[in-house]
Amino acid sequence: MNHALPPGSTIGILGGGQLGRMMAMAAAEMGYHVHIYCPEKDCPAAEVAHKTTVAAYDDAAAMAAFAKSVDVVTYEFENIPAAPVEKIAAIVPVRPSPSVLSTSQHRTLEKTAIQKLGIKTAPFAPVKNVDDLKIAVQKIGLPAVLKTATMGYDGKGQWKILSAEELPAIPAGDYVLEGFINFRMEISVIVARDVAGNIACYCPVENIHKNHILDQTIAPARIFPQLAEKAENIAKKIAEGFGLVGLLAIEMFVTDDDEILVNETAPRPHNSGHWTMDACITSQFTQVIRAVCGLPLGNPERLCDARMLNLIGDDAADWQKHAATPNAKLHLYGKKEARAGRKMGHVTFLEIAPRK
Ligand SMILES: Nc1ncnc2c1ncn2[C@@H]1O[C@H](COP(=O)(O)OP(=O)(O)O)[C@@H](O)[C@H]1O
Ligand SMILES: [Mg+2]
Repeated sequence: MNHALPPGSTIGILGGGQLGRMMAMAAAEMGYHVHIYCPEKDCPAAEVAHKTTVAAYDDAAAMAAFAKSVDVVTYEFENIPAAPVEKIAAIVPVRPSPSVLSTSQHRTLEKTAIQKLGIKTAPFAPVKNVDDLKIAVQKIGLPAVLKTATMGYDGKGQWKILSAEELPAIPAGDYVLEGFINFRMEISVIVARDVAGNIACYCPVENIHKNHILDQTIAPARIFPQLAEKAENIAKKIAEGFGLVGLLAIEMFVTDDDEILVNETAPRPHNSGHWTMDACITSQFTQVIRAVCGLPLGNPERLCDARMLNLIGDDAADWQKHAATPNAKLHLYGKKEARAGRKMGHVTFLEIAPRK
């Protein structure tokens, strides 16, 4: 059976940030139209999309009209309410599936699903209130990190807990307490799986954070090949186990004794994969478009080593310097206001030996 959407088809993307923007650009390269659905006006993706609907995710009528007007739906961030996405899946294929989305967007479900596949995570315990937290601290030990189970990003909704006497006064809700991992390195692996079940995996990369926001990605990660292979195998196992169709980014901790613990997953292109735009045969953005449109996957192979630097807030003021740097590729997202902590763009530095 041929599952491929022909060129000229329309891909609906939920979310209008920079990831949606770069997905839309990759889609256009392959002759697809993109319809962005996003709650904010003038979003970065709208600027490069064929059509945009500005409406809330829980606007059932707008979501249904959007679903009817496109050939496939995907999303560019995982903090979209799952219920409306499940509803539109009855109208149009949603890739990755709503079940992958709901697993990835809930830290407890996510870690439980990963452990079920025989893959290690940090020790964790679900927490609903302060009393649970006390019990969880005894079970998990300290130091530990308390995280909101949903809606967290860039370290938001997290509390590091050092002492049982100083627990945060959390309102009742949905949290997870995790043992604090003294990792040697943070890595991520981006894996794609197509409609037919074929898998393509990018090399593990090393991620360096500043103020809980990704600052730099070094590709490939500076780890031994056996460990890189182990990380890739974990990613492939999760892609298969989740029944993924699309792209999944998997963040992992590498410990001093070379153990790999999975931290979290994101069923969409990931900031740590931006370097693939300039340094791989197939970028993560082209790959996700291929996967959700039912095309065969592209070759994820690395053409050269690379380093990606995020331009956060005022960093974007250095655009002229980066534009003038040899072997650097500057990407800006068209955001008007450079607020602190806001991802404005990125630069990929390609490790190319000078030609003789
Ligand atoms: N259990 C942990 N032990 C040590 N550091 C952690 C732990 N969980 C998260 N961190 C640190 O906090 C960062 C953000 O946490 P993460 O779970 O990835 O949430 P977010 O959704 O905000 O990216 C991680 O990249 C890592 O540096
Ligand atoms: Mg993270």
